[in-house]
Amino acid sequence: MFAARQTFNLFQKRAFSASASQASKVAVLGAAGGIGQPLSLLLKLNPRVSELALYDIRGGPGVAADLSHINTNSTVTGYNPDAAGLKECLEGSEIILIPAGVPRKPGMTRDDLFNTNASIVRDLAKAAADAAPKAHVLVIANPVNSTVPIVSEVYKSKGVYDPKRLFGVTTLDVVRASRFISEVQKTDPANEKVTVVGGHSGVTIVPLLSQSNHASISGETRDTLVNRIQFGGDEVVKAKDGAGSATLSMAMAGARFAESLLRAAQGEKGVVEPTFVESPLYKDQGVDFFASKVELGPNGVEKILPVGEVNEYEQKLIDTCLVDLKKNIQKGVDFVKANP
Ligand code: NAD
Ligand code: LMR
Repeated sequence: MFAARQTFNLFQKRAFSASASQASKVAVLGAAGGIGQPLSLLLKLNPRVSELALYDIRGGPGVAADLSHINTNSTVTGYNPDAAGLKECLEGSEIILIPAGVPRKPGMTRDDLFNTNASIVRDLAKAAADAAPKAHVLVIANPVNSTVPIVSEVYKSKGVYDPKRLFGVTTLDVVRASRFISEVQKTDPANEKVTVVGGHSGVTIVPLLSQSNHASISGETRDTLVNRIQFGGDEVVKAKDGAGSATLSMAMAGARFAESLLRAAQGEKGVVEPTFVESPLYKDQGVDFFASKVELGPNGVEKILPVGEVNEYEQKLIDTCLVDLKKNIQKGVDFVKANP
């Protein structure tokens, strides 16, 4: 509730600062899904978006027709997989968001989605690399730790890879961290900024509470909070009881990240978001992608910020994270090599 209100206020504020000449085409692949629909709705409310292109294997035109009645300036077009649907959807896009893919059911890990989602993401990446090679690609489909390397391998194979323009969306982890810490501390989540680094699954999600407003959190309170941030996705999967995973909070998080990219593209300085990108931070340990705070600019990644000071407890979390992350990344790379 609070997050949604916050997002809406943000868009209202932007309405005064975004001019039509700065406007951008944004494509959503998987737009008729649980995330795709509310994400597309939030993008329709964003005055920085001039053209919304919605693709799904089924239902894209229906979602587009519905959203197109909302009285904001952007145009909305839906595309089916027939004829040149996907190509037309992608052409001219500045941002491509990919929530296409299956979600978890109780008892599954994100890695269990790999067999289905790897080929979905690979094929969409091929189409994006051909039709809009310069677009910023925002990967939401899980397992993010592997699907982002899949996109990078596809782009490399087509000679159009630009690591500054490929992002795994990990915004939901900091959104959750901010909310969960505020529940413990009885504070306003709007004032809680928690750095979360690593990847986007279980122990690869590493909250750095020592860098928050509540550096002194320790003992069982800290352990419980860290665990809740790492496994927050499971809470939703369990509560939805077979009907999927987080969709509404994810839509808010995805819309926030897209909005940050558009702000940076349109000249705003100092826009920082956490995101899973090709990163130098742990390359010496064989980990080529890592989520950390990233300053965004007109060309995507402007600067990858250092992880900063961490305590002994957090260093152990990072060490554990790196072991899994390395394997998850390699799995994505190997998949494209074996299934080009
Ligand atoms: P969903 O099943 O409700 O929607 C997925 C949509 O993708 C469907 O409409 C489906 O028709 C479409 N689709 C499937 N294959 C496609 C293809 N080849 N091309 C275009 N569209 C295709 O699922 P959801 O709840 O929206 O979740 C989508 C994905 O996002 C899942 O993999 C989920 O795990 C992931 N997710 C990621 C985060 C994150 O933080 N990054 C958060 C929540 C969910
Ligand atoms: C989340 O963090 O909510 C998503 O990655 C979906 C999931 O499978 O938990």
